Amino acid sequence: MKSCKRMDSSAPNIRTITVPLEPPSRRYSAMIGSGLLGALAAYVDRLQPRPSRVHAIVDEGIPSVVADDRLERLRHSFVVSSSTLQPSEEGKSLQTVQAMLVDMTRANLERGDLVVALGGGIVGDLAGFTAASYKRGIRWVNCPSTLLSMVDASVGGKTGCNLRIGNSLKKNMVGAFWQPSHVLADVELLRWLDERTYRAGLAECIKHGLIGAQAGDDELLPWTAGVLDRLSTRDSAVLIELIARNIQVKAKIVGTDEREEAANAAGGRALLNLGHTFGHAIETLPQVSPTSVKELAPLQHGEAVALGLICAARCAELLKLVGTGLCERVRHVLGHAGLPVIAHNLPTSAEVLELMQGDKKTSGGKLRLVLPSGEHQCSVIADPPRHAVLEAIDAIRA
Ligand SMILES: NC(=O)c1ccc[n+]([C@@H]2O[C@H](COP(=O)([O-])OP(=O)(O)OC[C@H]3O[C@@H](n4cnc5c(N)ncnc54)[C@H](O)[C@@H]3O)[C@@H](O)[C@H]2O)c1
Repeated sequence: MKSCKRMDSSAPNIRTITVPLEPPSRRYSAMIGSGLLGALAAYVDRLQPRPSRVHAIVDEGIPSVVADDRLERLRHSFVVSSSTLQPSEEGKSLQTVQAMLVDMTRANLERGDLVVALGGGIVGDLAGFTAASYKRGIRWVNCPSTLLSMVDASVGGKTGCNLRIGNSLKKNMVGAFWQPSHVLADVELLRWLDERTYRAGLAECIKHGLIGAQAGDDELLPWTAGVLDRLSTRDSAVLIELIARNIQVKAKIVGTDEREEAANAAGGRALLNLGHTFGHAIETLPQVSPTSVKELAPLQHGEAVALGLICAARCAELLKLVGTGLCERVRHVLGHAGLPVIAHNLPTSAEVLELMQGDKKTSGGKLRLVLPSGEHQCSVIADPPRHAVLEAIDAIRA
């Protein structure tokens, strides 16, 4: 269990925001507020048909007093079983999914029953995929517990796990599109997050800001940059607005291209991969560290995305999709958010590029990159010139 540090909120008049999500396969809503998880049982009770058994998949990082309290309230109304996970990219595996499927089978979950995920992005991705696989798919409710999972991973229905092949870890290579029935983001949970993990979530917010114009919020990036100081204190009211605006951006994009099938020219859901092809490659390198302190390796997902955003901005400059200066502006806002802007112990750019070519988003063996192409907007670029990608990777070299 992690140390139970709590940062106090001073925000008055805290409100709850509900964001509707309407992808073709399932309509649901995300509720964002403070203290919402206290009413988890009431939300589950309202599901139609009402489940009788609930299998909770719980992140070990959440202080057990908090997780136990939330589950205890569920036990008053439902038969509750649970699996506890210690999240890691290595453990985001089919073996872990298998273990949870066994737990659910032993608990006699039926097709009308429910999975509740209570955790960060890894637990959410695994729980969603387990729900998608069990008896060919049962409902799940996602209760994200990290900033990254609240602003991004908890909505949109991408679920899955990694695949290890020899020395290489293939990120999110196995999975399913399986939307949750409901998302409850309780910012109270963020008070126990360590500073590094908290800040890692801001990378996905800055990513959403860079595509905001294509999802009806071209003010998201300047607004986010303007509230970074208040976010440092984990001000609940600002966090709720931040999470809601980020979910709205994602909802808009996923609503029109749920399964990432849009043509390159249309962008669609692929736009959400901005920074990720660079980021996923460096995230899987165990020696790469966010500072000169080797022990801080490997990078967290959000940290790798931050570095990937810098590479993408630099690549866009080199290809003249945007004017010079964007890369420095992106670097500045990420640095202000307390995110890494330099990767330490990075191998050669050619080695990073080779890993990028193994990304699942390649098409016809050719790289596809999402790159900034205007003010708060991006485009999908197929088969970018090798020299530009290599030079872009150098932008994060120590
Ligand atoms: N499905 C999607 O659309 C999507 C989008 C973005 C990222 N992801 C995935 O999300 C994962 C990253 O998620 P993450 O950044 O949440 O990391 P994570 O799931 O690894 O969690 C980070 C750490 O925080 C701990 N933790 C969780 N909640 C806590 C709390 N309330 N208090 C204290 N500690 C807590 C966890 O135990 C873990 O040690 C990656 O695997 C990435 O691929 C998925």
